[in-house]
Amino acid sequence: MARLGTSPEPSHAGGDPSAPQHVAIIMDGNGRWAKARGLPRTAGHERGVEALRRTVEAAGDLGIRYLTVFSFSTENWRRPAAEVNTLFGLLKAYVQRDLSRLQQDGVRVRVIGQREGLPPDIAELVDRAERETATNSKFHLTIAFNYGARNEILRATQVYARAIAAGEVTGELTDAGFEQYLDTKDLPDPDLVIRTSGEYRISNFLLWQAAYAELLFVDVLWPDFNKSHLESAISRYHERERRFGAVTPGAT
Ligand code: FPP
Repeated sequence: MARLGTSPEPSHAGGDPSAPQHVAIIMDGNGRWAKARGLPRTAGHERGVEALRRTVEAAGDLGIRYLTVFSFSTENWRRPAAEVNTLFGLLKAYVQRDLSRLQQDGVRVRVIGQREGLPPDIAELVDRAERETATNSKFHLTIAFNYGARNEILRATQVYARAIAAGEVTGELTDAGFEQYLDTKDLPDPDLVIRTSGEYRISNFLLWQAAYAELLFVDVLWPDFNKSHLESAISRYHERERRFGAVTPGAT
């Protein structure tokens, strides 16, 4: 890979300069991957972290600037405690192990979702990762952890309502104004949302932000996802025609 941090802007070396700017991924299928091999579900999640590493690298190579991945949803608390603990442990290990490399490569790390409810050591680590990479802009990796879009929208609305009550904001609320209260306030909307594992659902992921995203559902289980799958997703994205609610020029 052309390392992410070696030039002021992404090199697109071997990549596609017209790549979608922001790709978001619902990394699904870890459990099925493990089950098919007679392994515990946690083994699927561990291999899922490797797929995440591969994908961050591939995304940089292919000219994508923003990658957002769904790692733990507000609904995942319903899973057995041991699995929940594994997912928390994997986030911790990933940040601990990869932070310096991500930093060197000019990656800005963000973690979106509800901080409340995260164990203090993980919340602290996440704060540190965000702080230490805050001035990076070559590539933006956003990890949705303890994230649910409805929860995000409710939290945003609560903060907005408090600001109104305190007289801190006045005037009409616009789309752009509301977005300032979302966890993703500094991020462009995703152009492409990919879900692996062959399920056709959005599962409470980026409901506001993905309003006009192209959606792609691929059959591969997340631990098997690799650069060629991402390349093929980008090719399929290019076949789509994005109209943002308008009509194709010349169609009327
Ligand atoms: C969905 O597969 C996947 C998750 C709930 C967790 C995703 C987590 C990772 C890819 C690894 C963790 C990475 C970090 C950075 C914490 P599933 O378990 O629902 O699979 P199934 O539908 O086949 O059961």
